[in-house]
Amino acid sequence: MSAPQETVLVLDFGSQYAQLIARRVRELNVFCKIVPFKISPEEIRRENPKGIILSGGPASVWAEASPKPHADLFKTEIPTLGICYGMQLMGQMMGGDVSRASHREFGKADFFVDQPQGLLNGLPNSIISWMSHGDYVTKLPSGFQAIGHTENTAIAAMANAPAKKYALQFHPEVAHTAMGKDILKNFLYAICGCKGEWTSQSFVETSVAEIRAQVGENKVVLGLSGGVDSSAAALLLHKAIGKNLIPIFVDTGMLRKNERAQVIEMFEKHFGIPLCVVDGEKQFLHELAGVVEPEKKRKIIGRLFVECFDAEAKKHPDAKFLAQGTLYPDVIESQSAFGGPSAVIKTHHNVGGLPERMNLKLVEPLRFLFKDEVREIGKVLGLPEKMLQRHPFPGPGLAIRILGEVTKERLDLLREADARFIEELEKSGQYSKTWQAFAVLLPVKTVGVMGDERTYEHVAALRAVTSTDGMTADWARLPPELLEKVSNRIINEVRGINRVAYDITSKPPGTIEWE
Ligand code: XMP
Repeated sequence: MSAPQETVLVLDFGSQYAQLIARRVRELNVFCKIVPFKISPEEIRRENPKGIILSGGPASVWAEASPKPHADLFKTEIPTLGICYGMQLMGQMMGGDVSRASHREFGKADFFVDQPQGLLNGLPNSIISWMSHGDYVTKLPSGFQAIGHTENTAIAAMANAPAKKYALQFHPEVAHTAMGKDILKNFLYAICGCKGEWTSQSFVETSVAEIRAQVGENKVVLGLSGGVDSSAAALLLHKAIGKNLIPIFVDTGMLRKNERAQVIEMFEKHFGIPLCVVDGEKQFLHELAGVVEPEKKRKIIGRLFVECFDAEAKKHPDAKFLAQGTLYPDVIESQSAFGGPSAVIKTHHNVGGLPERMNLKLVEPLRFLFKDEVREIGKVLGLPEKMLQRHPFPGPGLAIRILGEVTKERLDLLREADARFIEELEKSGQYSKTWQAFAVLLPVKTVGVMGDERTYEHVAALRAVTSTDGMTADWARLPPELLEKVSNRIINEVRGINRVAYDITSKPPGTIEWE
């Protein structure tokens, strides 16, 4: 087993920036986890962190319901950095004074370095900092010194070097703060004594050891879709437990052209990992017959997926664990820091209801990672570039891209049109520049003319969007020549479609999918 990795904990007080702090720390090659602010001293000890960072937060330390950490937090020897609200907490709980500012300070402020050592080592006399606070420390706790100020705030940074307690009124994690990363680096390396051992490679090694320790000789079932997350999770588990991993691929019949074959090919031929393939097409089509309402389609598909997966998993009664490729943004809901002692970690299930129904213990090796970090891990594990860059694909698949009833004929029609769109996007280099791109089959027919003949066929809509997280999106400005090529190919090569439209709706007010 490898040595325990050096870890820094971020206590989340409801800051919009908590994830960004974790992100910056990991960019500095130190593993970082966000934990609820109520974490007990025993739990902290169990994590054995090299350092603790207290995030900012929207509350005032004077508000009755404001989130407060365990009273003993500041009594530990562990190096601690308070940011914004975290600084005010440190000020108040360690015996200093905190006052409400006469005017709240938001945005850029010149921060003057009074002690260019320790936390602020290597910084110039002043830097631009990013402020967002209504309270400030007016009296230092005993043993502390002011190490920096702004025009409005005499104590904009403070330190008790022997106790290894540091605090900043501004946010070093945001890009607007010049040299913020240098400050975090000082904290991690000079103050916490981190060595910077966190890399994608080290993550894989540590995860493999952790998975082995967690599951022992037991078998683990995993729902594999062929997307980046579940594929990376499958490879990681396979590396850890080999044949004891049972990857289950449910073919809902709602997949894209050649998708099933590609996933099987990659896992079985390329990686030598056999898959349990469930052929659900008939059953899914049967239950979807006559259904046009989008939410009803989703419910039917969700239920059938669980049934199919469950039935396959039951063939392996010795499986005691269920692995999922759940990512960090699915796990943490930072706003719930105010939701009470048991709040914060909210497990989001990509496949609704699966774990509850199945009485299996969860293995979620990617639960602390962001999407681009998972891509890096996937690369280390040998996932081909094409799989790493794959667009997200919704669980209900093509069913929510066929408006109206889902039939085999309509699925085939859409698959053909979609495949041509994607092929041309890849050839033109536009695929990697879009967040998602796909064809939609509309439930209308229009008149056209081909040769000397009148046609009366279906319409396909093309959707391509740019986005960073899928929450908001803009329609992609694809080159007209590319759209022309796609339109020509679909109309000439896909019998049954005689018109192609391009969707120019952003999200909001539209959604990415049409249903
Ligand atoms: P919308 O259409 O809401 O989609 O803008 C945002 C992102 O979520 C995906 N999506 C789904 N994924 N089950 C899923 O697993 C669903 O029912 C579902 N609906 C939308 C969509 O593809 C986009 O990435």
